[in-house]
Amino acid sequence: MTEQEQIDQLYRIQGFDNDVEEALHDALIVDVRLFENSSGHITRTYEVRLDSGHVCVFKPGNGLLEAGQDGLYNGKQALVRYDHTPVSTVISECAAWQLAKHLREPWSELAVPTVLKFAKLPDTAKTEFGAAVLFRGGNAGKRGFYETVSEQVAAGAFFDALIGQQDRNKGNVMWYPERKVMYLIDHSFSFGKRGGNRGASDLLEWRLRYGSPELDAHEFESLERLLQSEDAMTLARFVEQERVEALRARAEEMVHTHRLVVLPTDVVNAADRGSVSE
Ligand SMILES: Nc1ncnc2c1ncn2[C@@H]1O[C@H](COP(=O)(O)OP(=O)(O)O)[C@@H](O)[C@H]1O
Ligand SMILES: [Mg+2]
Repeated sequence: MTEQEQIDQLYRIQGFDNDVEEALHDALIVDVRLFENSSGHITRTYEVRLDSGHVCVFKPGNGLLEAGQDGLYNGKQALVRYDHTPVSTVISECAAWQLAKHLREPWSELAVPTVLKFAKLPDTAKTEFGAAVLFRGGNAGKRGFYETVSEQVAAGAFFDALIGQQDRNKGNVMWYPERKVMYLIDHSFSFGKRGGNRGASDLLEWRLRYGSPELDAHEFESLERLLQSEDAMTLARFVEQERVEALRARAEEMVHTHRLVVLPTDVVNAADRGSVSE
C-alpha cells in the first residue's frame, strides 16, 4: 500500500458508524487560523472551523518537517526516532480514533473523533493534509486526573499498551475537572512497529505501579473481538501492514498472558520525555 493509497482508503472509510465523525468528514472548512496554544510545541497546530458548526484542532502532517519556533528540527528528529513519516503520523491520529470507536466504551469516550482533512493554511497558502481532531474542553498538561478518574486512567493505559503509544506524557491528556473527564489526545507517534517501538506512556506506568496489570473481562473480550476481526476493525485497510501486525501481536500477547503488554522504553526517550511532543 502506498501512502497515497492509505490516504485514499482512509478517506473512504471515515464517516461511518458515528454521527460526529460523519459530520466532520462531510463538512467544508470555513476558517483556518493558527491555534493560540501552539507555542512550545514541536509543530504548528491550527484551529479549523467547519460549516457543520464544529471546531477542530488541525495538525498538518508536513508540519513535522519544519523547524519549530526555537529553530530546531525536533519534528524531524521525532520522525526518525519513532520510525514515522508525516503521513504515518496523520494516519496514526485517525487510526487511534477508528480503533477506539470500534472498541466502543470506555475508549470511544476517551479518544476524540478525528478525521483526515485537507486544509489551506493561512501562513503558507498551501493546502495540506492533516488530522482534524474535534475540539474538546479541558486543559493539557495538568495532573489531577490520576486521583480523580483513576478508572479512566486505567482504560487509557490499556489503550496505550494496545496502540503502542510512543508519546503519552501528561501533555497529551486533556483534563476537564469540572466534568470529571479526561481525553486522550496526540496519537501522532503511536502504532509503533514491532521491535522498533520505543513506546512510553505515563498512563501505563501509573497503572502498572498503582493499579492492576491484569486485564479485566471487558478488556479481554474487546481484544478477542479485535483479533477475530479480519481487517483489524478496519485498520488493516489503511494502516501499514507492519504496524497492523505489531498491533495484532500486542493484542495476542495480552490475550495469552491476561496482562497488559509493557512497551519497551529506550533510554533517550525516557531521559527527555515531554520535550519530544508535549
Ligand atoms: N481535541 C483537542 N481539543 C482541544 N485542544 C486540543 C485538542 N488536541 C490538541 N489540543 C491542544 O493542542 C496542543 C497540541 O496538540 P497535540 O496533539 O499534543 O500536538 P503536538 O504533536 O504538537 O504535541 C495540546 O497540548 C492541546 O493544548
Ligand atoms: Mg502533544
